[in-house]
Amino acid sequence: DGEVYKYYADGEWRASASGKTVAIVNPTTRQTQYRVQACTQEEVNKVMDAAKVAQKAWARTPLWKRAELLHKAAAILKEHKTPIAECLVKEIAKPAKDAVSEVVRSGDLVSYTAEEGVRILGEGKLLVSDSFPGNERNKYCLSSKVPLGVVLAIPPFNYPVNLAVSKIGPALIAGNSLVLKPPTQGAVAALHMVHCFHLAGFPKGLISCVTGKGSEIGDFLTMHPGVNCISFTGGDTGIAISKKAGMVPLQMELGGKDACIVLEDADLDLVAANIVKGGFSYSGQRCTAVKVVLIMEVVADAVVEKVNAKLAKLKVGPPEDDCDITPVVTESSANFIEGLVMDAKEKGATFCQEYRREGNLIWPLLLDHVRPDMRIAWEEPFGPVLPVIRINSVEEGIHHCNASNFGLQGCVFTRDINKAIMISDAMETGTVQINSAPARGPDHFPFQGLKDSGIGSQGITNSINMMTKVKSTVINLP
Ligand code: G3H
Repeated sequence: DGEVYKYYADGEWRASASGKTVAIVNPTTRQTQYRVQACTQEEVNKVMDAAKVAQKAWARTPLWKRAELLHKAAAILKEHKTPIAECLVKEIAKPAKDAVSEVVRSGDLVSYTAEEGVRILGEGKLLVSDSFPGNERNKYCLSSKVPLGVVLAIPPFNYPVNLAVSKIGPALIAGNSLVLKPPTQGAVAALHMVHCFHLAGFPKGLISCVTGKGSEIGDFLTMHPGVNCISFTGGDTGIAISKKAGMVPLQMELGGKDACIVLEDADLDLVAANIVKGGFSYSGQRCTAVKVVLIMEVVADAVVEKVNAKLAKLKVGPPEDDCDITPVVTESSANFIEGLVMDAKEKGATFCQEYRREGNLIWPLLLDHVRPDMRIAWEEPFGPVLPVIRINSVEEGIHHCNASNFGLQGCVFTRDINKAIMISDAMETGTVQINSAPARGPDHFPFQGLKDSGIGSQGITNSINMMTKVKSTVINLP
């Protein structure tokens, strides 16, 4: 049961010598949809060796040629948007239209990366020595950016294509090779995306995609001596990886508990629209989803009413029908969400809707009058369940936001720009959006999390820079 897919190594599609596969369960039907290879550690070793060899030649390939191949891959990716989106619908229950957007956005991201790469990597620096005390003008330092080597990319299930190319594009334009370990849910969409790079004609071994169980190859990959950089997006695993990884640059984007602070002078219709979009798109399974609403008591009733009216209109059902709320990715995820909901119930939160669940499908739920002793005030459900905490001062809101272990994004709604900037400055998060829900895109914007939300900054330009190191040559005159 379930169509079997091969993994990609040395420019070929291969079956694993393990003879084993990993099942991908369709979140909607809860039946096995596809199977991918359970790669072995020995196969990982071979991929790493090939990546090392291929990288040396790739680093010598002119930058414009590297860009040309990326542009080609981007175009092919867009041509393949329909079959790839179908995989996203079946593997991760992404609503049909959003699945297509993810692939198109990915093609655009790859093209933009190629353009940005030729600009920023096409420039170096010349320094002269006599600006530093005691020096004559007899040293000329030429510095430019060179690749790191082999980049290991580990994207999460919620954007298996887009968050893969946001690592692959920068790695390749900068002259690195790339080993991709896709999430199990989303692995087939990722393999199909890799196929587009294959069709574009990248050299053998430069890109590979190994699939399998985290327990078998997860640590083995992240602790592999052949890896020169790790770019990871996901949950707590990232914290474990950063503790185990060797002395290699890390780019980590982990969880979030993005707060939406609403002041009394805000445009309440705009607030309601953004709470629904920010909290419930892709059923809340985005690291940048609004995960707690901190709202001034005086406007709370009005906003809650507006949000409830909008939630009542959301279509709940299968992703094939392009419903707004679709089944969450796994049964264990649905169970976890349910645990948070039950905890809030026991502790007296107000349920604005009846809690309803069928299989992995959870109906949208707004929990009002949530208090800090409830788990949902702090933990991220990664589901269509959103807590509202009523506040009596801005300081209270900022305090709750900053007491979180997370610090990804946040947003503030007010018509007073001075207040908005002051609140933004006070919020300990990587980004604050004024009068809009949190979001990573546009994809060239810097994207970063503080505290347990991550290490480093992403976005196209930052990722290219992060996947390079500075190399200097100093000319010493007699
Ligand atoms: O899930 C994490 C993503 O980086 C969020 O991306 O803001 O485009 O949904 P997004």
